[in-house]
Order: sequence, then structure tokens, then C-alpha cells
Amino acid sequence: MTKANHIDARERIIVALDVSTRRDLEKWTALLKSHVKWVKVGMELFYAQGPEVITFLREEGFNIFLDLKLHDIPNTVQKAAVVLARLGVGLINLHTLGGVEMMKRTAAAIKKMAATERISPPRVIGVTVLTSHSPEVLHDELRISLPLEEATLHLAGMAKSSELDGVVCSPWEVEQIKKCYGADFLTVVPGIRPSWAAPGDQARYKTPGQAVAEGADFLVIGRPILDAPDPVAALNSIVQEMQD
Ligand code: C5P
Repeated sequence: MTKANHIDARERIIVALDVSTRRDLEKWTALLKSHVKWVKVGMELFYAQGPEVITFLREEGFNIFLDLKLHDIPNTVQKAAVVLARLGVGLINLHTLGGVEMMKRTAAAIKKMAATERISPPRVIGVTVLTSHSPEVLHDELRISLPLEEATLHLAGMAKSSELDGVVCSPWEVEQIKKCYGADFLTVVPGIRPSWAAPGDQARYKTPGQAVAEGADFLVIGRPILDAPDPVAALNSIVQEMQD
């Protein structure tokens, strides 16, 4: 059991708001507002609606995971991340493949800005291997020769030594990451599929109950909720599964 496992199941769900129009944004926030605490804003919504979307979601009372997976030279990522951190989000992420210097400089720059400007900094996490990547894609296409689990652990170790707060990882790697890098090293976990949902393009998924049992701190869930005929019922059944 990790510390975060004591947090209410509902507070550990991050709903991926993978929409692009203002109309859809308002529809989903109205529907989800009294049922979840966290939402995820990804590239689609942020690029379509701009930083104002963060102001709107904060005013609606949500905590925000800004999932833009920054990956560029250290100087560019460091500066971009400070801009994002000033928006007042709870979590942001970088690609671990950007390297240790990129991650270290970014984490330090955010802390420095937050201290100077007296704002609370977002937690910064690293993206390891995308949950849509199968071992075949990793080896045959990307030519990364380490077995997928080892590659993920290695990238998570880079995030840890860069003083990031945790990683995004598949539910298959949570247990090992917690074992190697400690219970306090956050695991934010997409690739969640309740037994009744279609996998879509997720190759390495588990059910909400399994992910929680492995020690996941936050579950990122999109289509199983957004594509459900009754999204609130889908959400409630996921919460139920997490508590069973
Ligand atoms: O619809 P679904 O539940 O698959 O949504 C998962 C969300 O998590 C998507 O917004 C996707 O971009 C994101 N994500 C992911 N794998 C990662 C990081 C983020 O699936 N490694």
C-alpha cells in the first residue's frame, strides 16, 4: 500500500478531457464537476483552446494535469515548463527521452520560479514508454534493444535522478517502479480499461482494480468514460472497481 492508496478512489481518477471545442469542454465539465476532482488537458484541447482553458477549469474547481509531454533541448523545455507552471496546474509532464539535463534543469527552474513568485509549483512527472507501444514497436520500429520493462525502469530511474516527482507509466510497470524508486515516487497511470470497455489503441492495459492493487497513485481514464452511453454510471462503476 502506498501513501496515496489511502486517498479516496474518486480523488485518484484523472479524466482525460480529449475534446477540442469549447462546447464539448463545457458539456463535460458540467457533467463531471460533482463527480471527480482531477481532469487532464492534453494537446488536442490545449492547442485548440489555449491557456484560457486552464483558467476556466480552475474556476470550475478542478485540479489539472497538463499533459503536453514536453520534449526539446533543455533550454527550450525549461522555459516552456516555467510558463506552464505559472498557469496554476497540479501536474505537468516531460518526456524522459529528452534526457537528464533537460529534466533536471526544468525541475529546478520550476522550483525556483515558484519560490520567487510564491506560488505552489506543479508536480513534474516524466513520460516513460507510451502505453500504446508494444514490445514489437519498441524493438522492431524504435530499435530500443532493452526489454520493455527494463527500458521503462531505466527511464523512470532517469526521472528519479533528475529530481522529478514521478512518472507516467503503464499499469504493468507500477509495482516494479514503486519497488525500485520508493512509495513516494508518483505513478500516474493511463492504459486503464474496465472489463466492459474496448482497448482501442492501448496495448498495455489493466483494469482499474488491478492498477490500484499494483500501487498506482492516479489513474488516467479517457474513452471508457467519455465514450460510455452513461458516463457518470461508467465513472461510478470504475470507482466501485477500485474499492473492491
Ligand atoms: O482514452 P484513454 O483512456 O486511452 O486515454 C488515455 C489518456 O492518457 C490519453 O489522453 C493519452 O494521451 C494519455 N496517455 C497515454 N499514455 C501515456 C501518457 C498519456 O495513454 N504514456
